Amino acid sequence: MTDNQDMIRPGLEGVVAAETTLSSVDGEAGELVIAGYPVEELAPNATFEETAYLLWNGELPGGGELKSFAGMLASHRTVPAATLALLREAAANGVPAMDALRMAAGTLDLDGAAGGSEPAVRAAALAARFPTIVAAYWRLRNGGEPVGPRADLGHAANYLWMLRASEPSAAEARALETYLNTVVDHGLNASTFTARVIVSTGSDLVSAVAGAVGALKGPLHGGAPGPALDMVLEIGSEERAESYIRSKLARGERLMGFGHRVYKVRDPRADVLAAAAERLFGNGGDRDLYRLATKVEETALALLEEQKPGRRLQTNVEFYTALLLHGIGLPNDLFTPTFAVSRVVGWIAHAFEQERAGRLIRPQSVYVGPRGRQWKGTP
Ligand code: COA
Repeated sequence: MTDNQDMIRPGLEGVVAAETTLSSVDGEAGELVIAGYPVEELAPNATFEETAYLLWNGELPGGGELKSFAGMLASHRTVPAATLALLREAAANGVPAMDALRMAAGTLDLDGAAGGSEPAVRAAALAARFPTIVAAYWRLRNGGEPVGPRADLGHAANYLWMLRASEPSAAEARALETYLNTVVDHGLNASTFTARVIVSTGSDLVSAVAGAVGALKGPLHGGAPGPALDMVLEIGSEERAESYIRSKLARGERLMGFGHRVYKVRDPRADVLAAAAERLFGNGGDRDLYRLATKVEETALALLEEQKPGRRLQTNVEFYTALLLHGIGLPNDLFTPTFAVSRVVGWIAHAFEQERAGRLIRPQSVYVGPRGRQWKGTP
């Protein structure tokens, strides 16, 4: 054991590596502030275009600014032809949607927009094209043809249009917009940190978002909502909740949608999304599923407290993400890609902030391997 070992923070837990004006996560108070607005205030009210403008410019847009900003986003939705060709090949090979998104994201500087010299255009082109990639891939993977973007629809409504080839209801578009706003930024989470590390070396925005997609894909970060919904559907009825969760915990398995590295009280995003789900299901969706989910949540929290006392494991954002996105009609496999459709806006905002900070991110490690070996050649 060396002195330096006292300095190790496995998982960088508790380490502060950046100043940011983008979002504030208070895990003890259960508070999330996005560019000055409590998430409860911003998420159900703003359009996604307003949220993106806010994160990239620090202030909400004025009326004229919003119109031209939304127009710029809408005008950059079409992806390069080579990106579509790659998606066709990926679909033919049955590549998972997040891998297809990672591959396609890396092609987005094939034309002058995402790879150009104007930062605002680069940002708009990347954020505008993520939904196009996900929707086109989904349709190709399911034997269909991509549906082109519509410039007359907002960011969220257009995404649903490209997925389904039919216009979403206003309630569905609003529910999706609330989701996108809720998860757009969240402090120095793993994918955002990845994006900042990449930019800190002087690398480019396309590399940063492609790397961030890779980090988001893992089940401990963005990959949990699908399994969270599977759990609710497998439980199927309120009476089965306790026995099902008990045996899952007895097998040492984790309950997806619970626990968080930072939040030790209920994740405020869970409340925003639960309220959005309740509104959506009140509008004719699956109310029984909503009721079952709240019962599963209640049972899971009681059993986590019983089995893991003192760990303070609470509901996280993924639990109600699953319910809301399912209510909008998105299949499980699109949950994490849809998270990326939102979070890319946060990654870009952090990339700009990191560029301004201008400091290479380069932590250290403590060597614990052998020393003094002598070269004797390969036996
Ligand atoms: N279900 C059951 N037990 C859980 C748990 C969960 N969802 N999350 C944490 N725990 C337990 C761990 O087993 C550990 O118990 P132990 O000390 O007896 O071994 C303890 O709580 C602390 O867990 P740890 O892995 O140190 O916490 P972390 O800060 O590294 O983990 C997560 C945070 C998110 C990775 C973790 O809570 C998790 O895996 N959750 C499920 C996946 C999920 O919902 N991810 C989306 C996050 S937004």
